[in-house]
Amino acid sequence: MAIWIPTLAGRSGPKYLQIVDALAEDIVSGALPPGTRLPPHRDLAYALDVSPNTTSRAYRAGVARALIRGEVGRGTFVRTTGGTSLPGAPADMRRPTAGAIDLSRNLPCPGLAAPALAETLAALQREGPLAAFTDYQTDSDIARHTDAGIAWLNHAGIAADRREIVVTNGAQHGILCALMAVTRPGDLLLTEALTYAPVKAMADRLALKLAPVLLDDEGLCADALDEMCRGCGAKALYLTPTLQTPTTATMKPGRRARIAEIAERYNLILIEDDVFGRLPPDRPKPIATLVPERAVYITSTSKCLGPGLRVGFVRASASLAKAIHHAVNLTCWMPAPLMVDIAARWIRDGTADRLTDAQRRHAADRQAIARAAFADHDVRADPYGLHLWLTLPAGWSADGFRAEATARGVQIIEGGAFAVDPGTRPNAVRLCLSHEPDKARLAQGLETLQAILSDGPQDPSLVL
Ligand SMILES: Cc1ncc(COP(=O)(O)O)c(C=O)c1O
Repeated sequence: MAIWIPTLAGRSGPKYLQIVDALAEDIVSGALPPGTRLPPHRDLAYALDVSPNTTSRAYRAGVARALIRGEVGRGTFVRTTGGTSLPGAPADMRRPTAGAIDLSRNLPCPGLAAPALAETLAALQREGPLAAFTDYQTDSDIARHTDAGIAWLNHAGIAADRREIVVTNGAQHGILCALMAVTRPGDLLLTEALTYAPVKAMADRLALKLAPVLLDDEGLCADALDEMCRGCGAKALYLTPTLQTPTTATMKPGRRARIAEIAERYNLILIEDDVFGRLPPDRPKPIATLVPERAVYITSTSKCLGPGLRVGFVRASASLAKAIHHAVNLTCWMPAPLMVDIAARWIRDGTADRLTDAQRRHAADRQAIARAAFADHDVRADPYGLHLWLTLPAGWSADGFRAEATARGVQIIEGGAFAVDPGTRPNAVRLCLSHEPDKARLAQGLETLQAILSDGPQDPSLVL
């Protein structure tokens, strides 16, 4: 194997950290398998045009992160076991390395945060005392965590004071608590015609009526919303204006302004889910910035740092935030202080920014693979998104295509799973590009889907 030279282009921060981050990513992606011998630090310094001090420091940090180990007289090697595996993940969420290829789950690239977690846990233990993390949080913990939330939301252009922030167990919990706070049984909730599927189940559990609003290429259609609001008495609208789930559309500023204006006119609360919002580097500002008094803005660290942290942040007017806080108390008292503390540290010390950059690079890399695979097909995707939306050629039904994909060992989700109106079966499928840890398996899965499309529908009973 040629000597390992990390790609540092596009990275920021101290050089030695750039090197060790690149090392971690290459181990996670499989480019550096366990046992690989790394170049001597002087050779690497020469290849990167940095001082040997920098590469020595990077290797020391790599050892501290349990990524590599030095053997006296032999060199430095990638560890056979280390901080990158994901032991203990629930069986149905475990990242597959064999068997069926799973393009059905919309998760970020796995393991990128594991080295940072190892460092942070060691620091927490050094700094002690840990007893505080076994107790309910104190006022000063709450202030520290809330301030981290304010900083995280600032990236999206959202301004907030402490009374307006609620910390949740991820965005999913934020959505549920927002719905509990804003609606009462029997209320009408508007959503995009194709929406994040758990919201349908939440509405069902909360005895809400759901009404779908038409989508177009930019996401939720403002004219359709306007028309629907006339006399319908809807209480709230749940929507994903950036990287819409599942169609990947991102709404332009003009459309956002119109939706804000319609919400004002019809006294509608906007529940804006911006869980993917930090991934595209230059996305438009959230609608919540235009109507802060009638918007509940929801995001989390799941897509940038890792979904296992279970840390989300919600911003709403102080009075709504109080009601959402009450729903958090009711459902779980509070998010686990240890997890929020880890996320807060990462937000404060810049680790969160570095991990977000790393997720962006991974997403862009995988989107490029998908673009090449489906160059001749009707695909919607964002260069920094985690999934894509494939409209099937005439002749295919989405259910039929999914059945064929399952038969050939690739798991995907058909568009109908996102439809609020069960009679709507969009002729499209969602493909998630980041759940599979191994890029080669992703490429193989996409190739299989490509081959299915080229072969055309085989089973007449599955044809549209
Ligand atoms: C649109 C959307 N909202 C919310 C969530 C939930 O995110 P979290 O893991 O932060 O609960 C997801 C997760 O996939 C999602 O796709």
